[in-house]
Amino acid sequence: MTAPVLAVPVMEARDIRRHYAVGGMFGRRGTVKAVDGVTLTLNAGETLAVVGESGCGKSTLARVATLMEPPSSGELLIDGRPTADATAAERRQLRLAVQMVFQNPYGSLNPRKTLGATLEEPLAINGRGDRRARERAARAMMDRVGLRQEHYGRYPHMFSGGQRQRIAIARALMLNPRVVIADEPVSALDVSIQAQVLNLLMDLQDEFRVAYLFISHDLSVVRHIARDVLVMYLGRPVEHGPKEAIFARPRHPYTRILLSATPSVDPRHRHQALPVKGELPSPLNPPLACAFETRCPYATEICRRERPELRPLEGVRVACHHAEEIAEEERPGLRPGPAGDRRPQAPLT
Ligand SMILES: Nc1ncnc2c1ncn2[C@@H]1O[C@H](COP(=O)(O)OP(=O)(O)O)[C@@H](O)[C@H]1O
Ligand code: SF4
Ligand SMILES: [Mg+2]
Repeated sequence: MTAPVLAVPVMEARDIRRHYAVGGMFGRRGTVKAVDGVTLTLNAGETLAVVGESGCGKSTLARVATLMEPPSSGELLIDGRPTADATAAERRQLRLAVQMVFQNPYGSLNPRKTLGATLEEPLAINGRGDRRARERAARAMMDRVGLRQEHYGRYPHMFSGGQRQRIAIARALMLNPRVVIADEPVSALDVSIQAQVLNLLMDLQDEFRVAYLFISHDLSVVRHIARDVLVMYLGRPVEHGPKEAIFARPRHPYTRILLSATPSVDPRHRHQALPVKGELPSPLNPPLACAFETRCPYATEICRRERPELRPLEGVRVACHHAEEIAEEERPGLRPGPAGDRRPQAPLT
């Protein structure tokens, strides 16, 4: 019998921040804290979903995770190796380990390259195999992602949105990466096509043992694909834990709001719609204590005074002063929630 090997996570982010200096209105300068203290661990073959409404820092986190931008502070490790002091050659290697799939399947493919050339390009750039070997590899990948062999010579405009996203996924997998960062990969697709692409991603994960950092503004999209969920608000993680725990009983008011905007067929998982007040605060001038305070139906005085740190609670981590009370409310049969406004829920995004 072999002893269990302690696996090194394929990606680890330790208190990652990414701040941008910007010229504000009338030339005022300010800092946008697009990502402000994200810690996460991604294991081989697993999926971590990062969820939050538009503007909360998801794409910025994706750019840092793919080494397109350095973090302002914090540490990013890939396969246990710190990325900060990597040499140029090491960075090239690290970049091969982390591939990206973007939201827009129209913009991310070169319109002048055939499907075959698109899939072979990463191999050619990295000097893998001769021309015939590359074609074999491209054709094998086409089979795996459900693209027909006779489409090898077709150009991107001849494919549907869903097929193009299959091509983008296939391209990302050509070099056998450890991690694929998928930034809203199905958000631009029809709902009927979304499920097909999500199923494909899950099948490919089993086959390639690739890890996904799966980014979405829509919690319902990650319900099946994620193992863990990280909910972000204005650059900060507010709730992080196993998917089952988060969907069954969200502890953070923001997660509850995202979830109550999500239709569920299972009555045990139906959450009371919460009122959401107001707009996302300006990222240049966010609330100083709890960032969610201006929109939170549970906010009290302490929320305006003290920043809630992420802390463990019943198997998840949550950044909310009143998480215990809110979790209690989510227990079946112990509703309703906060008193006050019961306007129908408007989607946040
Ligand atoms: N290069 C940049 N310069 C200045 N601000 C930026 C830059 N990139 C993103 N931001 C700001 O950071 C915040 C987070 O943006 P983003 O990561 O795109 O969020 P999301 O992907 O969740 O919609 C937004 O307020 C955005 O305007
Ligand atoms: S800390 Fe207070 S304002 Fe922030 S989410 Fe929790 S209850 Fe709402
Ligand atoms: Mg984005």
